Amino acid sequence: MKPITVVVHGALGKMGREVTAAICRDPDLDMVGAVDIQAIQEHLALPNTSRRVPLSSNLNSLLQNCHPQVLVDFTIAEASMSAARIATKQGVNLVIGTTGLSDDNIREIDQLSKANKVGAVVAPNFALGAAVLLHLATTAARFFDHAEIIELHHHEKADAPSGTALATARAMLQSRGKPFIYSPTKKENLSGSRGGQIDGVAIHSIRLPGLMASQEVILGAPGQTLSLRHNIINRECYMPGVILAIKEVVKRQGLVYSLDSLLNLGRDDEGV
Ligand SMILES: NC(=O)c1ccc[n+]([C@@H]2O[C@H](COP(=O)([O-])OP(=O)(O)OC[C@H]3O[C@@H](n4cnc5c(N)ncnc54)[C@H](O)[C@@H]3O)[C@@H](O)[C@H]2O)c1
Repeated sequence: MKPITVVVHGALGKMGREVTAAICRDPDLDMVGAVDIQAIQEHLALPNTSRRVPLSSNLNSLLQNCHPQVLVDFTIAEASMSAARIATKQGVNLVIGTTGLSDDNIREIDQLSKANKVGAVVAPNFALGAAVLLHLATTAARFFDHAEIIELHHHEKADAPSGTALATARAMLQSRGKPFIYSPTKKENLSGSRGGQIDGVAIHSIRLPGLMASQEVILGAPGQTLSLRHNIINRECYMPGVILAIKEVVKRQGLVYSLDSLLNLGRDDEGV
């Protein structure tokens, strides 16, 4: 079978470079071009090979020249949406990891992919461990009445709590079908000590240099607690999810939102 041809949008960024290296390591994938607004040369040397591919700041013309099957995007939300409009029009499947897309953006990507008969995978978190944690936490949420989330990130993260922590709390609440029981503190000696709260789930955000990204969900019941913790050590953690998405997106039409939808994680808890 011929390798799947891929162009990376945001190829000069931190994730773009990691994705480029991961594509180059996989014999089933073929990187055929790269796009980045910061491109000043016409070619990008691929890591660990003597090959180089066209590099441009103009996505439209690069796609017309390279005809990839898949565009992988790790840029910023605005650039991502513009890329989705351009790529789908040219029949190119989308794998989007850029965060900060609105619900309207997600709906538009769904419509664009259906109208142009291509696939689209949008996942704000491509780490397999994060998808598994979400799955386990939603299962556990049905058996515990108390839950809190601690999320830890590097000090330059712009927002708090993390989108992943909020999404985890919402998924746990949906699975449970009712709020968690929040135990209020009579006297808070320091305002904010108990964190933010969403329907009984307190969320605590830690920001420190030296941290990358971690999340711990702690569930409590009389006489026991259950802790589920996922640690991201480096960006390599996202690569199996991105590579899976590239291989799956070419088989589909329309939008798949989030990595867990590709992992069939729901199957083993049916009937619990
Ligand atoms: N889904 C996930 O699992 C996951 C994991 C890590 C990061 N992210 C997200 O991926 C995105 C990129 O993260 P990063 O750490 O690589 O950032 P980065 O700043 O290192 O890289 C972004 C790249 O996009 C390029 N870019 C910006 N605007 C552009 C435009 N208009 N056209 C073309 N290229 C443009 C920049 O020049 C830069 O090279 C962010 O939204 C981040 O939150 C997602």
